[in-house]
Amino acid sequence: MNIVIVGVQWGDEGKGKIIDILSEKVDVVVRYQGGNNAGHTVVVDGNEYIFHLIPSGILHKGKICCIGNGVVVDPQVLLKEIEGLQDAGFTAKGRLKISTLAHLILPYHRILDQLREMKRAHKIGTTNRGIGPCYADKINRCGIRMVDLLNRSVFADKLKDNLREKNEIFRKVYNHPGFDFKKIYCEYMEYAKRLSGYIANTALFLNEALRQKKDILFEGAQGTFLDIDFGTYPFVTSSSTISGGAAIGTGVSPEKIDKVLGVAKAYTTRVGEGPFPTEYPRRFGNFMREKGAEFGATTGRPRRCGWFDAVMVKEAVMLNGISELAIMKLDILDGLKSIKICVAYKYKGKVFRDFPHDTTVLRNAAPVYKEVPGWQGPVTGIGAFGRLPANARSYLKRLQDLLGVKISIVSVGSGRQDTIFL
Ligand code: IMP
Repeated sequence: MNIVIVGVQWGDEGKGKIIDILSEKVDVVVRYQGGNNAGHTVVVDGNEYIFHLIPSGILHKGKICCIGNGVVVDPQVLLKEIEGLQDAGFTAKGRLKISTLAHLILPYHRILDQLREMKRAHKIGTTNRGIGPCYADKINRCGIRMVDLLNRSVFADKLKDNLREKNEIFRKVYNHPGFDFKKIYCEYMEYAKRLSGYIANTALFLNEALRQKKDILFEGAQGTFLDIDFGTYPFVTSSSTISGGAAIGTGVSPEKIDKVLGVAKAYTTRVGEGPFPTEYPRRFGNFMREKGAEFGATTGRPRRCGWFDAVMVKEAVMLNGISELAIMKLDILDGLKSIKICVAYKYKGKVFRDFPHDTTVLRNAAPVYKEVPGWQGPVTGIGAFGRLPANARSYLKRLQDLLGVKISIVSVGSGRQDTIFL
């Protein structure tokens, strides 16, 4: 079975844990978009692992992990991650493949990300990792790819060409001294030496694996509402986070994908700026952030927290073709007297049951809530759906009815064992 795992909110839904669990059942795991703006946290035997680029499937010995062409790669970060894995007793040699076609993040991307953000009247709150500028160069046809790293003269030529234009912009627009060719060239040729053994035609590898009836898990990063097309633009990331991105970002035909599993938190979080209709009031938000340890895995920034938004998730179910949903962090709702679920928005007397595209509507909309009774808990350690408190079960059933999809996994704690399969 070839399955896509996709976030249905604004990222940080807990995809890392689901990917880690499902990796056991597949042969290959491939990441299809994003870069080291992502942070997937996995807890195994009490040890916490955070991945920014390498699929979390790497923790399962014998599985092959790919970084697809749709990913943007900061080689410095990737090498650090490979070393970290080695220190923890896992080896990437022979098990990690990076697409020749994946684009490289260069120092000027990182700096431009910061400078542009500083100048923006309406800040996006980017992770400052150079993701947006790198994707912009890809679309602008001046990006540099992994395959170029393997060819010194091509790399030098492309870098020179980029610096000629970019340094002028850096000086004139941003009052920044610009970048030295030799410094970047030497740094990246060093990365090339260390990464060359991992760079491969992953599209060919994946399609050959499919021909041999192997199972592939497609790992999405971020979430549906950070998608460059369908997210809360411009407060989005620069890639196609939805399930359709899995085909574009790997070179595997959509025809080969059997199933899309959506991952949602039992509530909602968002990092960075942008509309968030169901955001909790400040004090309650602070309380829930502490309770759920809602701080970014990449930047450590506090995450904004709010109630479950069924309008959003219903839209995500449609956009991604989701047939099953995993609900994460149910335990964080333990002990609440009542729980709200957003079923529509109201703006200027009009009721919106579908996700509006107008950011002004989203920003000013009043959520229409259904309120359901909470439970005392704790739900952590409960291994079966039937043993969950009755109100927790009815909360999940309510979500299922509202969304029209089956909830097949419920996570009630951070460890692999704190997972209920339905
Ligand atoms: P960028 O991807 O760094 O350009 O950031 C664009 C927006 O996406 C910002 O609001 C970030 O906080 C958000 N973002 C990017 N990656 C993630 C993620 O993995 N989880 C949650 N938010 C993210």
